[in-house]
Parts: sequence; C-alpha cells; structure tokens
Amino acid sequence: MADEMENPLPAARSLIVIVDRARRRLIRLQLPQHLRMIERAEGMISRAEADLLFRLAADAEGCIVEVGSYRGRSTIALALGAGATPVFAIEPHEAFTGILGGMFGPEDRGAFYKAMLRSGAYRNVRLINLSSETVTPGWQRHVGMLWIDGDHSYEGVRRDWEAWKPHLASQAVVAFDDSLDETIGPHRLIRELMASGDLTAIEQVGKVTALRRKGSSNNFDDDLA
Ligand SMILES: C[S@@+](CC[C@H](N)C(=O)[O-])C[C@H]1O[C@@H](n2cnc3c(N)ncnc32)[C@H](O)[C@@H]1O
Repeated sequence: MADEMENPLPAARSLIVIVDRARRRLIRLQLPQHLRMIERAEGMISRAEADLLFRLAADAEGCIVEVGSYRGRSTIALALGAGATPVFAIEPHEAFTGILGGMFGPEDRGAFYKAMLRSGAYRNVRLINLSSETVTPGWQRHVGMLWIDGDHSYEGVRRDWEAWKPHLASQAVVAFDDSLDETIGPHRLIRELMASGDLTAIEQVGKVTALRRKGSSNNFDDDLA
C-alpha cells in the first residue's frame, strides 16, 4: 500500500488491464454463439472472415472442402455454417513453413482435435490428414464450397486449384485466404481465374476473396488452362 502511494503507476496499469479484459469479455459474451465458438479455437482468420465462411457454408450446394485447417478455427466456422453437411478438412499436420513465415506441424493436430471436441464440430467435420493433391484422385462427391488456405506459393495454390476443380459443383463457391497480397500465389491465381471469365468475384471480407463458378456442367477440366 505504501509502495502504491509512492508510485501509483503500476496499480493504475493493473487496473487498466483488468478493465480492458472485462470489456473484451463482455463484447465476446454479446457475440452470436457461432462466433464465440469459433473464436475459442486458434486460427488465422478474423471474426469477420470467419463469419463470411459461416455464411458461405450455409449456402453451399454440395459438400465443403477445406485445404489447410491448422488448429481448426476456419474448420469450425465452416462446420457451424454447414449444419449437417459434411466438411472435409484436408490437412497433413506435418512440418511445413508457409511462404509468409508461419511454422506448422504435428502439435497443430492435437490442438485441432481439442477444438473439434470443444466446439462439437467433429459431428460433421471429417479430417483427411493428408496433403491436398493426394486426396483428389478417386474423389466421388460434388464440392459445393472449396476453401483454399494451405500452401500460399503460386505453385502450391495452383496445384490445389487444379486438383479440386474437376470436383466442383456447377455453382460452387471457391474462397481464398491471403488474397490481397500481390506478392503471393492466391492473388495471382485469382486474377487468372477471373480473367478466364469462368469465375466471378462475389464477396471480399478482410483478406478473404470468394468467387463463384459461372459454368453449368460439372466437368471443369477443359477451361481455366
Ligand atoms: C494458414 S494455415 C491454415 C489456417 C486455417 N485455415 C485457419 O484459418 O485457422 C495453413 C495450413 O495449410 C497446411 N498445408 C500446407 N500445405 C498443405 C497441403 N498441400 N494440403 C493441405 N494443407 C496444407 C499447413 O499445414 C497449415 O496448417
């Protein structure tokens, strides 16, 4: 007490921290339940981006595929939006360094499992613990929504796109994370896809851009070359 009277700054700082924590907790409590659930999981998307994925998943006609799940935040956003529709989370959880410097690995698998259990998202999330391009040969389902957030190098994101495009439903939505940075793959690929005229941008929130196929057949192999 004598210390605080002599130097009131540390006490004032602690009070500010406590008030700030309480304020943030109050804001979280006022959020819709799905956003509260999503924010409890670790991840690399913002609240507004998560809400976009939630809305897009709710409208998807066909199953949902996520490339790059990390610790589950975007997976939960998709799963809560999708209701009973399956969400296939394609994520190897192996040592990987992203083009923006992020480090990923097997510890993320543990966090992912915990997030699935805590959120209840395990009910419709099916983890495929493999690299994206190894999964598509033999794939049998029409994909209504594809969320690409894996390897952001141009070669990586194009490889994922090429692997999944034959499986897209006619009006499928394709969303990309980190789409605004002109120096990395998603931005370049999106430009190319839009220039091809087969995909049109429908929404952009934060660093996420969503596009919709314009085609009417399910065979998407002969375009976007
Ligand atoms: C940016 S993180 C994903 C973040 C997550 N979507 C979120 O919002 O919280 C990128 C992830 O992509 C994964 N990844 C890298 N290459 C991949 C590939 N070929 N197939 C599937 N996932 C891949 C990495 O292991 C890493 O966990």
